[in-house]
Amino acid sequence: MIDTTLSRPSARARLKRATDVVHQRLETRIDAIARLADPARRGDLVRRFACLQLPAGAALNGELGAVEGLDAGARTDRARFFAPGAAGQADFPRPASRCEALGMLYVLEGSTLGGRHILNSLARQGVSDAALNFLDPYGDQTGPRWRAFLDVLEREVGEDETRMTQAEQGACRAFRHAETILCGEPA
Ligand code: HEM
Repeated sequence: MIDTTLSRPSARARLKRATDVVHQRLETRIDAIARLADPARRGDLVRRFACLQLPAGAALNGELGAVEGLDAGARTDRARFFAPGAAGQADFPRPASRCEALGMLYVLEGSTLGGRHILNSLARQGVSDAALNFLDPYGDQTGPRWRAFLDVLEREVGEDETRMTQAEQGACRAFRHAETILCGEPA
């Protein structure tokens, strides 16, 4: 008998594959380093990130608040990084299931990895501004928190194709939403 668990890709690998194209497109369209390096354009992009991140907790924590080992409330609490009211009336897509919500959180948590790269590039150009701290919410805990998230993701969705599909849909929805908010319109 063939042991299919040996060849099964991880939940993270599935989500990465499902969203690689939109991540690449977002990276190109957003042009984050140039915009954040320019004091005249920085504020607009920081506000767009606030509109993406601040409403996420209200949308996701209902599904994710009780997930063991996730610490969803702390992960989605980014209020300390932005000016009060910075998100205006922005909303975040509502997930229909726990696994869809985990797919959405994958997008927000993954953005902390890219965020550190952006912040390092800006620092190399001599750009330093406390308004950019949201790009690196976890500091030296980024790696451990990412791995802890991936463990929960794998435990909750990894074994089951229906759950995996829900997580993929959540990740794709969240990336499309991020693109609309950060770039101003869908591709
Ligand atoms: C210019 C903007 C961006 C750049 C340059 C960038 C760059 C990167 C890089 C280099 C990684 C891999 C980090 C590592 O493995 O250490 C990464 C991962 C990731 N980024 Fe971005 N990113 C950007 C914007 C975003 C945004 C806005 C989002 C979502 C809102 C996002 C979501 C993700 C996700 C989900 C991953 C994890 C992929 C995986 O499973 O490995 N990124 N990004």
